[in-house]
Amino acid sequence: MQNIRRITDDVFYVGASDRRLALFENVYPIERGVSYNSYIVLDEKTVLLDTVDHSVSREFLENVEAALAGRALDYLVVNHMEPDHCSVIAELVLRYPGVKIVGNQKTVQMIKQFYSFDVDSRAYIVKDGDTLSTGKHSFTFVFAPMVHWPEVMVAFDSATGILFSADAFGTFGALSGNLYADEVEFEREWLDDARRYYINIVGKYGVQVTNTLKKAATLPIKMICPLHGPIWRENLGWFIGKYSTWAGYEPEEKGLLIVYSTIYGNTANAMDKLAALAAEKGVRNIHMYDASKTDVSVLVSECFRYSTIVFASPTYNAEIFPKMSMLITELKEHAFQNRDVAVVENGTWALSAGKKITESLEGMKNMRFLVPTISIKSSLKADQEGLLEELAAKAAESVNA
Ligand SMILES: Cc1cc2nc3c(=O)[nH]c(=O)nc-3n(C[C@H](O)[C@H](O)[C@H](O)COP(=O)(O)O)c2cc1C
Ligand SMILES: [Fe+2]
Ligand SMILES: [Fe+2]
Repeated sequence: MQNIRRITDDVFYVGASDRRLALFENVYPIERGVSYNSYIVLDEKTVLLDTVDHSVSREFLENVEAALAGRALDYLVVNHMEPDHCSVIAELVLRYPGVKIVGNQKTVQMIKQFYSFDVDSRAYIVKDGDTLSTGKHSFTFVFAPMVHWPEVMVAFDSATGILFSADAFGTFGALSGNLYADEVEFEREWLDDARRYYINIVGKYGVQVTNTLKKAATLPIKMICPLHGPIWRENLGWFIGKYSTWAGYEPEEKGLLIVYSTIYGNTANAMDKLAALAAEKGVRNIHMYDASKTDVSVLVSECFRYSTIVFASPTYNAEIFPKMSMLITELKEHAFQNRDVAVVENGTWALSAGKKITESLEGMKNMRFLVPTISIKSSLKADQEGLLEELAAKAAESVNA
């Protein structure tokens, strides 16, 4: 059954949601599902902007067919060649053999890598800033390299003020009828997923995202139509503001995040003590996670969120405990930077986790260590409480600064 949504008089949503998939990119848990957005414009020429993941291809193809209502498809704009958006291209070419595929040189190269149909005879190659007119609508293509992949571009339609923003401004989470961010409790129900999506998928490319935001700031954008999650037609500045904070590696909130690993509970016990001391020193926004219990994508996202972070880990076979090690590696891979941090290690015979975590953190930009590494030998002793007091005091200064 077709499930098309009208956005303006001739722009329609033809995407679909998947609540069955457990892991996006086979790595990120998506309890709330995900939507694969696609948009069709019925102008003098018909234009489809991106396709969808194969998991929702049936719904999508029905939507496209119904939206076209017997017309041919003239253009397929490929803003992003990742398979969650391009896996239906070959099928579309079979159904609409006259379609012109609009992309840049890199897009075309990637289509050839993924598919074996004749791309060259259908390719309509654009350069950064080029415009495609389809009647009333006129699409300007703005390259956004590495706002996920190198070929990414966004398309701005001057007739409607819609920015078709590819993965930018996307989020995990299936759409449940409400198509617009202003129709849902975005801050309460979606923001955590939006942050986790951004940080884990594109967090590494803050510089490129900032450059794209600068280019986009010159356009009279009225609506943002991303490839995942709700459409933005109100309060755009608020969400763009979130993006510039994340892309600039600025903490989103002043708050104390304590992430620990523990085998027998002694490190956890010490961190509970630290949290209590911090609370007594006036820190209000305190969040604690056991790294074994919470998915690393959430932990990475939480690290990007808060200003002040304590990492605590037992030594495990002369290394950092595996789940903590994964977090530190992921942070490094996402260009994490610019935070107040502290390290707590534990061990029974030869402690080395602290040194290894510290070395990794020192390799990141603008990391400020609140105190020297605190070393616990098996369990925290009364004479070490002063060290935690000092850390709690520094954390309070950092959070309440
Ligand atoms: C498989 C394994 C390997 C360990 N390797 C080390 C080690 O290399 N060096 C060390 O000092 N302690 C090592 N430990 C001991 C723990 O780090 C130590 O008991 C620590 O106090 C545990 O803290 P927890 O109570 O928070 O789990 C190891 C423990 C396990 C189970
Ligand atoms: Fe992508
Ligand atoms: Fe995507």
